[in-house]
Amino acid sequence: MSRSIRPTGSGSNAQSTVEVGIKVMDTATDTSNEASRVRVEGVWKVFGKRPEEARQMAEAGAGREEIREAVGSVVAVRDVSFQVSPGETFVVMGLSGSGKSTLVRCVSHLIEPTEGTVEVCGTELTQADSATLRDLRRRKMAMVFQHFGLFPHRTVVDNVAYGLEVQGMDRRERQERARELLGTVGLEGWGDHHPQQLSGGMQQRVGLARALAVDPEVLFFDEPFSALDPLIRRDMQDELIELQLRLRRTLVFITHDFVEALKLADRIAIMSDGAFVQVGTPVEILTNPADDYVRAFTQDAPVVKVLQACSVMRPLGETEIDPGWVRVSLTTPLEAALPHLLGSTDPVLVCDEQEAPVGLLHADEVAGVISPDRR
Ligand SMILES: Nc1ncnc2c1ncn2[C@@H]1O[C@H](COP(=O)(O)OP(=O)(O)OP(=O)(O)O)[C@@H](O)[C@H]1O
Ligand SMILES: [Mg+2]
Repeated sequence: MSRSIRPTGSGSNAQSTVEVGIKVMDTATDTSNEASRVRVEGVWKVFGKRPEEARQMAEAGAGREEIREAVGSVVAVRDVSFQVSPGETFVVMGLSGSGKSTLVRCVSHLIEPTEGTVEVCGTELTQADSATLRDLRRRKMAMVFQHFGLFPHRTVVDNVAYGLEVQGMDRRERQERARELLGTVGLEGWGDHHPQQLSGGMQQRVGLARALAVDPEVLFFDEPFSALDPLIRRDMQDELIELQLRLRRTLVFITHDFVEALKLADRIAIMSDGAFVQVGTPVEILTNPADDYVRAFTQDAPVVKVLQACSVMRPLGETEIDPGWVRVSLTTPLEAALPHLLGSTDPVLVCDEQEAPVGLLHADEVAGVISPDRR
């Protein structure tokens, strides 16, 4: 997680960002291309014939079904634009069929958008020649899929080393690197097995290690944990957060699980019928849902378990610290801070990894985020 810290509340504060010892990022106001690892502008994807006619109908407000009946084609993605900053985790969340996979495939260039531009690490994909694209794929971006997509006849270590093999690295060196990465994802000693000898969770770790092997700047994930049991899934989420704290890559993560989105995201885009209906930080989405579709997700979310102090705190600013205030860390879940807020009129002090105070939790602001009535 980049875990850049935004103040709570709306209005003029909502777009500012302060540094808390991890990194500075202001995704809300940053529009320069250089600062974005991924830039998507006006992307459409129409499957089927007469795409222009389908698009015109969509622009006039027709829904997917109406267009499919009239023209026979499917508008899977409609006019999507967003940017992702270096080190940011951008999560696209939506129900089945909302267009998430199609969008991530357009952005990772597995398929061509019908219209619009996609730029990854400064390269405009639709304009790039095949050598540039190949290089980008081999060195700068990687993808992790829902059903792992491992090679069944290759050993685990050879699966992980695949991208390095394609890059031309010699066997000894790539195997060494692959075994190192297996350690990173908790699979030390499993290199000589075949994928089918591993559980689903372990196979997905191999998928993750394979993606990380080429040391990509941008990683795309299409529902990587959806096929896993809830407990394994939670472990994998925690491990991805840990890994991201260390590696600080740019992540575009697809999920249909709102809780997973809240947990992993710096920003979430909520997708419906091919379009983005809201883009914001978890707190912005919880406190200010754009419409009933978004509100429905927020109603049952276990917010106090998922949100951490860093997402809700107000920057310390010039506030004088009272030595009696309870201290929590940036990653403390709200539920652990709540008893202190309820039992006292004092704020709770949030401290970074060096235990330096960086922010404050105030009871009324926390209540504004967690209370369903106030969302
Ligand atoms: N190759 C294709 N040809 C025709 N239609 C397609 C194709 N791929 C996807 N679609 C349609 O595009 C729409 C969006 O599909 P997509 O797979 O992107 O949704 P999704 O949000 O990823 O769903 P899920 O959560 O089930 O994976 C759906 O109506 C789907 O039927
Ligand atoms: Mg999908």
